[in-house]
Amino acid sequence: MSPTALAEPVAEAVLQPLGDPAARWEVVAIPGDGVGPDVVAAGRRVVEALATRGGFSIVWHEILVGGCAIDAYGVAIREEDLAACRDADAVFLGAVGGPKWDDPNAAVRPEQALFAMRGGLGLYANLRPVSVHPALAESSPLKAHLLEGVDLLVVRELTGGLYFGERTEMTGPAGSRRAVDELPYTDVEVERIVRLAFDLARTRRRHVTSVDKANVLATSRLWRTVATEVGAGDPEVSLDHRLVDAAAMQIARRPADFDVIVTENLFGDILSDEASVLAGSLGMLPSASIGTRRTAFGLHGLYEPIHGSAPDIAGRDIANPIGTILSAAMMLRWSFGRDDLARAIEDAVSDALYDGYRTPDLMPIDPGSAAGLIPVGTRGMTDAIVARLGGAQEELR
Ligand code: IPM
Ligand code: MG
Repeated sequence: MSPTALAEPVAEAVLQPLGDPAARWEVVAIPGDGVGPDVVAAGRRVVEALATRGGFSIVWHEILVGGCAIDAYGVAIREEDLAACRDADAVFLGAVGGPKWDDPNAAVRPEQALFAMRGGLGLYANLRPVSVHPALAESSPLKAHLLEGVDLLVVRELTGGLYFGERTEMTGPAGSRRAVDELPYTDVEVERIVRLAFDLARTRRRHVTSVDKANVLATSRLWRTVATEVGAGDPEVSLDHRLVDAAAMQIARRPADFDVIVTENLFGDILSDEASVLAGSLGMLPSASIGTRRTAFGLHGLYEPIHGSAPDIAGRDIANPIGTILSAAMMLRWSFGRDDLARAIEDAVSDALYDGYRTPDLMPIDPGSAAGLIPVGTRGMTDAIVARLGGAQEELR
């Protein structure tokens, strides 16, 4: 295998700001289902609040995807809408799904849209950063001292493995029913995601943990072999391998030890939900899904909070918008080369939390520690964040 198959270090390339200061960006907005519309509106407001002084404008193209698209068109995503996502500079998504479309045996299901976008847009890498805001240590079920210094990044392979392998649904008579899911990986697929993890580690604490199940799975042995080869070519970054069961335990026991975790699709799905508990609420966490395609401004990508559609709280102005607002920051960083704007948003979120603003999911587990906190809803939290973008304005560019 040639270690130069992907000559350009992806992360390094995008971290060079390319953004034209008078840029006009085209973004497909997908509010989706449940709380999706609430949080996407919040994210758009924060981005718009930066537009004038940040020297950009955004043209938003809103489309129906997920359960609402099944109701309107009979499919989770239409071909022309997938094409619109491909043509745009970035895609900004809320959440899809809900009880109305939950039957796992239905022929048409909301999550099919996710797989169509991931596969169809070549978004092979899913980045899920997890850090713990000091003011939220009381909101996590883990002991506060374990959370000190937690700053990890899950790099999940997103277009291979079990999610995209062949499937044979249940066949055979009762008593001998059988189903099969295939878990295929090629060396090229493993190499590009591991390389990206190394590129990203170089901008952080320079450590990669590659997670597999090499004591059982052939694809994991391939994964480990390729990861070792990539690591040999990058002596500035240290690499260790962990079996997925041990990694799951270590994320709860010593989360601050991790820097970049790179792993296959299903392991990454499970470990990133586990890691999200560290941050105090699923509502806090952003994600970026990127591929290799570059636009005039940066990498084409899809940005969404990691939480689901939470239909029980949809439309009630109580969903935490922070995961989506931080996803907007990732969009500015990765798809538009504007690290300055991303930091402005991240700092404003941090300041709002320091100042005590809390959506219901962020209230401390022990009500005794709630004194001095300011309970807010989706809009109240967004207002607090927008108000705190002010301090960052002069520093832009
Ligand atoms: C995620 C979600 C999806 C996944 C579901 C909704 C299919 O859990 O993005 O992590 O498993 O990838
Ligand atoms: Mg998941």
